[in-house]
Amino acid sequence: MIPVVKTIDEVRQYVKLWRKEGKTVGLVPTMGYLHEGHKSLIERAVKENDCVVVSDFVNPTQFGPNEDFETYPRDIQADAVLCEAAGAKLIFNPEPSEMYHDALTTVSVDKITKVLCGKTRPTHFNGVCTVVSKLFNIVMPDKAYFGQKDAQQLCVVKKMVKDLNFDIEIVGCPIIREADGLAKSSRNTYLSAEERKAALCLSRSLKLGRSMIESGETNAAKITQAMKADINKEPLARIDYVEIVNIETLEPAVDASGHILAAMAVYIGKTRLIDNFMID
Ligand code: PAF
Repeated sequence: MIPVVKTIDEVRQYVKLWRKEGKTVGLVPTMGYLHEGHKSLIERAVKENDCVVVSDFVNPTQFGPNEDFETYPRDIQADAVLCEAAGAKLIFNPEPSEMYHDALTTVSVDKITKVLCGKTRPTHFNGVCTVVSKLFNIVMPDKAYFGQKDAQQLCVVKKMVKDLNFDIEIVGCPIIREADGLAKSSRNTYLSAEERKAALCLSRSLKLGRSMIESGETNAAKITQAMKADINKEPLARIDYVEIVNIETLEPAVDASGHILAAMAVYIGKTRLIDNFMID
């Protein structure tokens, strides 16, 4: 069975050994409760690296005071089974006390963390950037894999890696969806049967936006307006944001014809879901 280690020292010992053997190392950072989306990241990493580490850590510092840190689903046994099947070599599953004690240092990326999800989650990306930097320094991978569902996170991590000269290639991987279009997410488990149906309004409105662009509409405001109107037809949905932005700067796009990210966060009942598409 795949080893599940709890300490930074143990991870370093494994990686040191692999490096001695001349092996390449890939990292898939996760918060656990793994699903097909994570599996696709791990499988891609396994294809492109000799040894793959999956970090499985519900990072407290990226949750706001009224968010779901305590209730975030956890199942390390099931995660180990999935990681083993996908071909990973090691799981790093630390306690918060192993990752944080008396820390005075954080990593923050300006500007692109203040928009989209940053507006309602003002401390979220500081937590993400700090923990991802720590994971990079612990594992020192050649490549690290992130899902495009968290498009802003991917953009922020890429900028952080560039700005801080981490010698790591960041690989963005496509969104994995349920058969009916709902993007896979560990938070989908919060949805009741009725909410699960209502949650389809996210992918449906993205489809609408994409089809408007494909049929020649370039006015970003018109497209987001149509997408919002479509979501608002669903009584259980409450829009946090629906925006079309430049894929790199995350500044609002006027023209939606290319190099754009159409992103949204929508509450379905109490559950906040995100989804997006990119045209690059
Ligand atoms: O995307 C996630 O699951 C988390 O934000 C990450 C990158 C593992 C950092 O905790």
